Order: sequence, then C-alpha cells, then structure tokens
Amino acid sequence: MTLRQSLTHTDVGATVAAALTSLAGLAGCSPPAAPPPPAAPPPPALTFHLTATIQDLMDAQIDPSADALWDAVAFIASTRGVEDRKPRTDEEWKAVRTNAVTLIEAANLLSMPGRLVASNDPTPKEGELNAADMGRRIAATQAGFVQLARNLQAAGLRALSAIDAKNPDALMEAGGAIDEACEACHVTYWYPNQRRPAS
Ligand code: HEC
Repeated sequence: MTLRQSLTHTDVGATVAAALTSLAGLAGCSPPAAPPPPAAPPPPALTFHLTATIQDLMDAQIDPSADALWDAVAFIASTRGVEDRKPRTDEEWKAVRTNAVTLIEAANLLSMPGRLVASNDPTPKEGELNAADMGRRIAATQAGFVQLARNLQAAGLRALSAIDAKNPDALMEAGGAIDEACEACHVTYWYPNQRRPAS
C-alpha cells in the first residue's frame, strides 16, 4: 500500500465515523444547534395616502353600510299587516355581508392619524363643533378617538358573525350596538355641546 492509498483509506474511515456521529446526534436528544437565522431586513416604511376626509368616509362608506345593515332586519306593523323583514336568500345574505365588511374596514380608515375632518368648514349647527375644533380635539385625544372607532368595528364584527350564522335576531342586536357606537363618537367629537343629540 502506498502512502497515498493509506491516507485515502484513513480519510474514508474518518468520513464514515463523522457521518455516524452526526446520525447519532440526530437520533439523540440534543441535535447540534441550528445556525441562527439571518437577521430579517427592516420592514419597508409604510406610507398611506390619505385622501378622503372623515366626513367623506361617513358619507361614502360608514353611513350607507350601516343603513343597509339596519334596513336588512325589521319587524314593521302597519295597517297592511306585519312585515317580518330579514334576508332570506343566499344573495340577500351576501349583500348584507358586503355592507358589514365595508363598515368594519371603514373603522380602520377612520382610525388613521392625520385624516382631516372635512375639506370645507361650513358654519356648524347649534351644539356642533366646527371642523377645525373637531380636528384639534381628535388630534389631542387620538387614542380615545381610535377606541371609539374600535367599538364601531367590534359592533360591525358582531353583525358579521350574525350574518355568517344567518341569524336575523342577532343581526338586529348588532344593529343596536352599531347605533350606540356611532352616537358615542358623535357626542364626544361632533356635537359635544348639544343637549339632545340628533339620532
Ligand atoms: C370614531 C368616531 C366616529 C364614529 C364611530 C362614527 N362617526 Fe360619524 N362622524 C364623526 C365625525 C367626527 C363627524 C363630523 C364630520 C363632519 O361631518 O364634519 C361625523 C359625521 C357624520 C355624518 C355627517 C356627515 C356630513 O356630511 O356632514 C354622518 C351621516 C355620520 N357621521 C354617520 C355615522 C354613522 C351612521 C356611524 C355609525 C355607523 C358613525 N357616523 C360613526 C365621527 C364618527
């Protein structure tokens, strides 16, 4: 056997031994520590482009979607009899669900800091703040404003669960909670000086 062949033979032996050791390690209780994962790159800075005002969101998303949820269930007694209004077909449930989704996500839009209250500032009605004062009040108590938007979102999520369960009674109750959530924010930020808040 030449020196070279002998070395090669020894190398093979060492390799086999190393492989056996690592197999033993795998089978045992303490596998070799995995190398630390590479540090995650910092997340890209998120930039949102806020275009709609709070007033726009109320008119375009929050008010119409809430109206649709409230209108979806009703028990109306009249001279013509009693109307038990509720979604019945899959399409009707789907339509009302779309409104719940809109309302829930609009609450997030409402929570974004830096959103203007209104693009113009018409003379406020009695008891109402003007837009500039509302904006200052919201900025000064942003966490409170966000909490009130969260309450609306939670009420919207109750409506969504009711819809997914096709439960008109639960949807009616969620409608009440939605109404309270609207009002709680309006009396705090919109018409805090009004004795009897408009419904
Ligand atoms: C987190 C606070 C908040 C919640 C919750 C909220 N609103 Fe508002 N809403 C406001 C503020 C602030 C204004 C005043 C903005 C303005 O009109 O200048 C307003 C104004 C409005 C207006 C008048 C819009 C206009 O054209 O002047 C309507 C209608 C309205 N809200 C409906 C609703 C309904 C319906 C809900 C519940 C489903 C709701 N809002 C929930 C804060 C809120």
